[in-house]
Amino acid sequence: MMVLLSILLATAQVAAPAPQGEEAVAPYRVDPANAGAKPFSGDRMARQFGGQPGIRRIVDSFVTSNFADPHIGEIFKNQDAVRLRRVIFEQFCYILNAGCTYTGRDMRTAHTNMGVQQADMNRLVENLQRAMATERVPFAAQNRFLAKLAPMRSAVVQR
Ligand code: HEM
Repeated sequence: MMVLLSILLATAQVAAPAPQGEEAVAPYRVDPANAGAKPFSGDRMARQFGGQPGIRRIVDSFVTSNFADPHIGEIFKNQDAVRLRRVIFEQFCYILNAGCTYTGRDMRTAHTNMGVQQADMNRLVENLQRAMATERVPFAAQNRFLAKLAPMRSAVVQR
């Protein structure tokens, strides 16, 4: 019975109940590969980001600044900030190999029909750089992380 259940869960589009405080989203297949990048190996990057507490602070200030941003805030307005904080934390923590898995949607699905342009992407990266700098992430580690995110551009930006 358990085996059957696991197989079903692994293959189905899982409609998990929305975690507390979050709005429900359309069912999708949970897969860490949805994060859009392979994790770093070893624990160096995780340490340079201050472990999970550091990543949590970076994500919180990054998400807050995107919502408050005079240029891209409009795109975030009316989106579920509670879910965003959770899944972006998971994504960063997973990619930085800091001991998490990613349960969110893939980057193309998450950004469909949002009309994101390259300038919006640049703005978002600046907000992330500010959050990382505030947390005193070494510059080289910041750039290593940004290089992991860069290839996601084609899934996010519409042209
Ligand atoms: C490499 C760059 C980016 C990464 C890694 C990223 C990551 C994510 C993640 C993990 C989610 C949540 C997926 C889910 O809910 O399952 C998300 C959603 C979202 N992203 Fe991005 N994002 C990027 C670029 C952008 C840009 C440039 C914008 C707009 C300026 C943007 C706006 C949004 C919005 C508004 C949502 C909420 C969508 C919804 O709830 O339906 N993202 N992003």
